Amino acid sequence: MDPRINVINKRLAGVKKIIAVSGGKGGIGKSTFSAVLALTLSKAGYKVGLMDLDFWGPSGHVLLGAQGISPVEDKGIVPPQINGVKFMSIIYYTEDKTLALRRAGFDQAAIELLAVTQWGALDYLIMDMPPGVGDVTLDVIRFMEKVKFCIITTHSKVVMETVKKTLNILKQLKIPIFGVVQNMKEKNLSVEMQIKRLHVPFWGKIDFDAELEGAIGDPKKLLETKFSKNVNKLIHKDSRNHI
Ligand SMILES: Nc1ncnc2c1ncn2[C@@H]1O[C@H](COP(=O)(O)OP(=O)(O)OP(=O)(O)O)[C@@H](O)[C@H]1O
Ligand SMILES: [Mg+2]
Repeated sequence: MDPRINVINKRLAGVKKIIAVSGGKGGIGKSTFSAVLALTLSKAGYKVGLMDLDFWGPSGHVLLGAQGISPVEDKGIVPPQINGVKFMSIIYYTEDKTLALRRAGFDQAAIELLAVTQWGALDYLIMDMPPGVGDVTLDVIRFMEKVKFCIITTHSKVVMETVKKTLNILKQLKIPIFGVVQNMKEKNLSVEMQIKRLHVPFWGKIDFDAELEGAIGDPKKLLETKFSKNVNKLIHKDSRNHI
C-alpha cells in the first residue's frame, strides 16, 4: 500500500463525511455548488471544510471573496476560515498565477495538499473537483477512503452524455455516488427520470438564478440567493437522502 494513503487518512481522521463535487463538463456550477453547499452547511451549524482541487481553474477564492487571508503552519497547514468555512486552495501558494504544471505536477500538488492540510474536527469536507475523471479525481478516489461523489449536471444533452460517462467510471470503480444535482434548471426540463434509469440517486435541482452573479465574492450575499435556498432544500430534503 502507498504509505501516503496512511498520512492522508490520518489527516482526515477527524472528518466525518467527505463529498467530492464533480461532473463531466466545465462551467456547469461545480465550484458554485461546492462553495454554497459549504456555506449553507456551516450556517446550519455544521463544522465544514472546503478544498479547491481544481488547480487549473481554481475559483473557490473568487466565490468566497478570500482576499488577505492565508493558512498558518502548525505541524502541517491550518486553513483559514471564511464565514465559518475552513478553506484550502492552491491559490495560497500560487498567488493567483496559473499553475504551470505538467500532469505529474498536478498529481503531486494534489497529494501534497491533501497530506499537509490540518482540517481538525469536521462534519463535512467538500471537495471542488476539476471537470471529468482525470488524475486528481483518481487520486482522491485512491487516497481518500471515505469519499462519496456528488455529480452536477444540467439538462443539456451534451452535459448529460459526459455525466453518464462519469457515473459509469465511478460505478466501475465501486465509488459511492451520493447523488446527482441538476443545476441551472429552467422551465420543466428535468433530468430526474434519466438519472433514475441509470440506477443512481437523484438528489434534486437548483434553478437558474439570474441574481447569482451579483453575490459572488460575498459569502453573506451568497447565503441570501435563490441558489442557496435551493441548496438548503437539498440538505433538508428527507431523512433517507439526508446529507
Ligand atoms: N444555478 C445557476 N444560476 C445562474 N448561474 C449559475 C448557476 N450555477 C452556476 N452559475 C454560473 O455559471 C458559471 C460557472 O459556474 P462554476 O464556475 O461554478 O462552474 P464549474 O463547473 O465549477 O466550472 P469549471 O469546470 O470551469 O471549474 C459561474 O459564472 C456561475 O456563477
Ligand atoms: Mg470549478
